[in-house]
Amino acid sequence: MLILGIETSCDETGLALYDSERGLLAHALHSQVALHAEYGGVVPELASRDHVRKILPLLRGILQQAGVKPRSVDGVAYTRGPGLIGALLVGAAIGRSLAWTWNVPAIGVHHMEGHLLAPMLEPDPPDFPFVALLVSGGHSLLVRVDGIGRYRIIGESVDDAAGEAFDKTAKLLGLPYPGGPALAKLAEQGDPGRFRFPRPMTDRPGCDFSFSGLKTAAINTWRKLEPTSENRADVARAFEDAVVDTLAIKCRRALQATGLKRLVVAGGVGANRQLRERLRNLAAESGGAVYYPRLEFCTDNGAMIAYAGWRRLAAGQGENTAIEVTPRWPLDSLPPVA
Ligand code: KG4
Ligand code: ZN
Repeated sequence: MLILGIETSCDETGLALYDSERGLLAHALHSQVALHAEYGGVVPELASRDHVRKILPLLRGILQQAGVKPRSVDGVAYTRGPGLIGALLVGAAIGRSLAWTWNVPAIGVHHMEGHLLAPMLEPDPPDFPFVALLVSGGHSLLVRVDGIGRYRIIGESVDDAAGEAFDKTAKLLGLPYPGGPALAKLAEQGDPGRFRFPRPMTDRPGCDFSFSGLKTAAINTWRKLEPTSENRADVARAFEDAVVDTLAIKCRRALQATGLKRLVVAGGVGANRQLRERLRNLAAESGGAVYYPRLEFCTDNGAMIAYAGWRRLAAGQGENTAIEVTPRWPLDSLPPVA
């Protein structure tokens, strides 16, 4: 079964062709970073318009790359939510139109389910059940995953998502958009021993997170300092250490609470080097294993949408023909795949 995946939930246009026999055949991504940079954040209307411009050229590119004809596509998967409503509608409208034209089924995929299943695209995919840490710009979730659509949320952020905290702190430190990766890069040069920020909500039981206080700790410290690059790097380092430590503590708790050994880490913050290393060590210490998507599939991409769509289309879950999106969509409301 050959599936076209289309991701347009935010500021990246991602397209991919996934074949259930041969694996990932081709993928392409257009990032809108340059478009939004001068505004310091994503401008939803500009995002929607750019998705309109990019989807079909990217589609032509991946069809050529994979050497397949449009008519050999067996199904279309597009991101239905959560995300920016206008951006989602572009992917949904084009995805559904292509499916009508080719007379194949289409399915709206949950963006976080896409992230969650992204490690399945790698050579050594995890078996169910596992604990998933999903850390993106909009969500921080710890989920017990017993199968596709069998999700139990065991922890989530009570305020900012991890990526959002990275982005906001980066902005406060005067780093250019998109802040998360820039802050992480700067933190590599920082002195780990100079400042120590709190590890929020680790002193009470449970797996929920809170990151907005860390952002405040960082800015309060930064405001008292000379704005030198060394000081900026030290604050960035203390912030990253606190986020990584907090996430690691909660992951360890989630593994203990569920008795599971496998940990999946996905979403944009899963691209963070320090976090990857820390969780790899944590899993090794407990005799378990940690699974990541390759770096480029941690952040938004079409491949994860094609894969998640295939799993649901193969189970007969293609929907009706309406073009609908779900900008707010709880992950644990999804139907299971038998
Ligand atoms: O999953 P994603 O591409 O989009 C959403 O679904 O939100 O995640 C984007 C988020 C942004 O907040 C970005 O700053 C963060 O992931 N991010 C990182 C790194 N790379 C991306 N945060 C920390 N370290 C990184 N290396
Ligand atoms: Zn995402």
